[in-house]
Amino acid sequence: MKYQVVRNYQYDYLGQSYASVYPNLHRYPATMLPQIGIDILREFKISKGTLLDPYCGSGSSFASGLECGLKEMEGYDINPLAVLISKVKFTKISIPEIIETRLIFRNDLYEFLKDESNIKKLQRPSVTNIEFWFSQEVIGNLSAIKYFIDGIKNESIRDFFFIPFSETVRECSYTRNSEFKLYRMKSEDILNFNPDVIGVFFKKLEDTIYLYTNFYFPRLAAATVKVYVSAFRPQNKLFDVVLTSPPYGDSRTTVAYGQFSTFSNEWFGIKNARKIDQMLMGGGKSGYIISEGLIADYVTQIAKIDYKRALDVSAFYKDLKYSIQKVAESVNRRGKVIYVVGNRTVKQVLLPTDQFIAEKFEENGFKHLITYERAISNKVMPSKNSPTNKCGKTMNTMLYEYIVVCENVK
Ligand SMILES: C[S@@+](CC[C@H](N)C(=O)[O-])C[C@H]1O[C@@H](n2cnc3c(N)ncnc32)[C@H](O)[C@@H]1O
Repeated sequence: MKYQVVRNYQYDYLGQSYASVYPNLHRYPATMLPQIGIDILREFKISKGTLLDPYCGSGSSFASGLECGLKEMEGYDINPLAVLISKVKFTKISIPEIIETRLIFRNDLYEFLKDESNIKKLQRPSVTNIEFWFSQEVIGNLSAIKYFIDGIKNESIRDFFFIPFSETVRECSYTRNSEFKLYRMKSEDILNFNPDVIGVFFKKLEDTIYLYTNFYFPRLAAATVKVYVSAFRPQNKLFDVVLTSPPYGDSRTTVAYGQFSTFSNEWFGIKNARKIDQMLMGGGKSGYIISEGLIADYVTQIAKIDYKRALDVSAFYKDLKYSIQKVAESVNRRGKVIYVVGNRTVKQVLLPTDQFIAEKFEENGFKHLITYERAISNKVMPSKNSPTNKCGKTMNTMLYEYIVVCENVK
């Protein structure tokens, strides 16, 4: 192993969940425990300056930053649902205004629903195979809720209402809710499935208001968090710290962020909702097997077993390398980058992504400071991995995760 890895039990948080610190407003796959960010920022005495998360997902690095006193943070994600969740959590919104909007919203919606013919006048969303995934009644009620949310003038409040709406879309569809990927319920379950869409929505709206009021709003005092639906591109601006948990493989064979978010994104009217997984890291094609650096041997081993798979793996590392170059250009001298990542196994070959990240930052003028190994207890992930980091050695787990810390010494 080229870059030192230290098993650090302090970062295990066994038995703790995301909710232990900042309960999520909306489900999202492979979230990072905010506790990790909090403790690592504290360990490196980072309590001021600007923070970047180039793969912000539902925003746990912002929760960590806030807790450590950081006031200016910026995040990027290609998935519109992820950015919506992050935006709502970390935007200061007037709670009395949310409550007042809820009252008017409720009255208008119930008034509208009294006349069934009103629903027929609504525009149907362009959701692929809509009738395969939603009953007619559910489509009608969701369309009515969406119609009134679209009518909310204040953008932050409108986004706020889209959180319970998005959760309602998923819960009232024919998807099996326990899965992140889209699987339709069994036909016999569909026969008995008759969700109370309006009831579900208002219950979720209550929950969102409660969590936002108690866990997010009080911590937002002087902080600004800006989030963008985009891949990160360097601007004329340098950051003091990067805290992120990047994908650990392409979406097709690891975590399907796009697929998880498809219904919500389609109901929001996002045009390329079905294509998001292809746009994410490693979603494209590579014409050659990666042949440079410490990952080359591992990918070559995969190529001997399955050449096509090795091309897919190469596509992921090419994207990650490119992205690291862009991030490295955007960090102040002495600034730190902290990447929290899992090492996956492909065709029985354990891929040391933590080592790859350290190597690429070093190639870009950074010094590797430390990598901590932590045991995972809560993440929903495939379970094949190894703590050994030895080429080709596997164990039946995705039990460990790595916190890679580098410093800009250019
Ligand atoms: C492990 S998740 C981040 C989870 C986040 N820390 C949280 O707690 O929710 C990785 C994220 O990277 C995003 N992503 C993948 N490829 C990307 C890219 N090229 N540019 C920006 N975001 C990307 C995915 O949509 C996903 O939300």
